[in-house]
Amino acid sequence: MTQIQPITTESLQQAKRLIFSGEVVAIPTETVYGLGGNAFDDNAVKKIFEVKGRPNDNPLIAHVHKDYDLSRIVDYDPPYAQKLREAFLPGPLTLVYPSTGKVSPFVSCGLNTLAVRVPSHEGAQAFLREVGIPIVAPSANLSRHVSPTSAKHVFDDFEGKIPLILDGGECTGGIESTVCDCTGAYPVILRSGLVTKEMLAEVVGKCGEYTPDLSRGEKVKSPGVLYKHYAPRCKTLLFSEKNAKNAISAYVSQSLENKGVAVLCAEKWIEEFEKVGAKCLNLGKNQAEMAQRLYKLLREAERLCEVLIVVEPSEQGGIMTGVLNRLRKACTSEDVEKK
Ligand code: TXA
Ligand code: MG
Repeated sequence: MTQIQPITTESLQQAKRLIFSGEVVAIPTETVYGLGGNAFDDNAVKKIFEVKGRPNDNPLIAHVHKDYDLSRIVDYDPPYAQKLREAFLPGPLTLVYPSTGKVSPFVSCGLNTLAVRVPSHEGAQAFLREVGIPIVAPSANLSRHVSPTSAKHVFDDFEGKIPLILDGGECTGGIESTVCDCTGAYPVILRSGLVTKEMLAEVVGKCGEYTPDLSRGEKVKSPGVLYKHYAPRCKTLLFSEKNAKNAISAYVSQSLENKGVAVLCAEKWIEEFEKVGAKCLNLGKNQAEMAQRLYKLLREAERLCEVLIVVEPSEQGGIMTGVLNRLRKACTSEDVEKK
């Protein structure tokens, strides 16, 4: 049986008991919910991979409370990483360091680095303080499904498969943390998110962005970036704003018999698309709203329609880099048009 509990002294103690008996427990964070286990326990780490169906070459992030002594798990801490922590942590930024190798070898899948995150969500902090150890936690979704932004989303994917979900309400961030490599001379973004390249560069002067060049047989730094991800269980067709209107009209007229078509678009398009009879999901009117709503709406689309027409916002940079990255990965190869 899977329990959903609000965060109280009792539920935190229950979560602690489960973690120290090798179980996995779902926890809220400000980005998305995570599926947490004891980072020192090989079997707990293996269980996380099993229950998610996660490929075993995709490393996990270790989560710690804000006063945790990093030197236990991090071997080298460059001065710029300290600046980044001061500026952005606790918060949606994960830093990758050379590892001391103290956590289970299954956490980093053979890499000699460790990704560490200090979430700002109060419930997450309370839980991490209660257990006092690093907790590895991938997003609490079945592998390749849409990431969860509520306890209900986690329940939908893992009912009967995990004992406890700590319910910390809806996630305010909505997309996963920015992952930033801190093993070189300057920070390099491996996965974009709510802490943007512009924000990082402002604090430390220089910030790179990693795109694997597989044609040169390069070893991938962050295997997770390769996988198709975040996909809802309905067909998804991605259009540029320029071509969306015609496509939507065509689909809406077809769908008189098949009413399973919906449109996911920015707020400014809703009126226009509703005029041609489309059922619309409102992504919002600014970058932060779009990040916060994206996964929730992709999960809603699964229930609402068979075909989701996604209108890609034309805005670029800032948080949109992360939002567009998720949106493109959520859409299948049947995309009618990419810009
Ligand atoms: O916001 C988040 O980061 C959420 C919440 C639960 O904290 N967690 C999350 O975990 O998104 P997950 O497992 O879905 O994504 C972890 C990402 C993957 O792309 C993985 O490849 C990368 O971080 N990663 C983990 N350890 C790494 C390492 N040592 N070096 C490079 N990349 C790493
Ligand atoms: Mg994930």
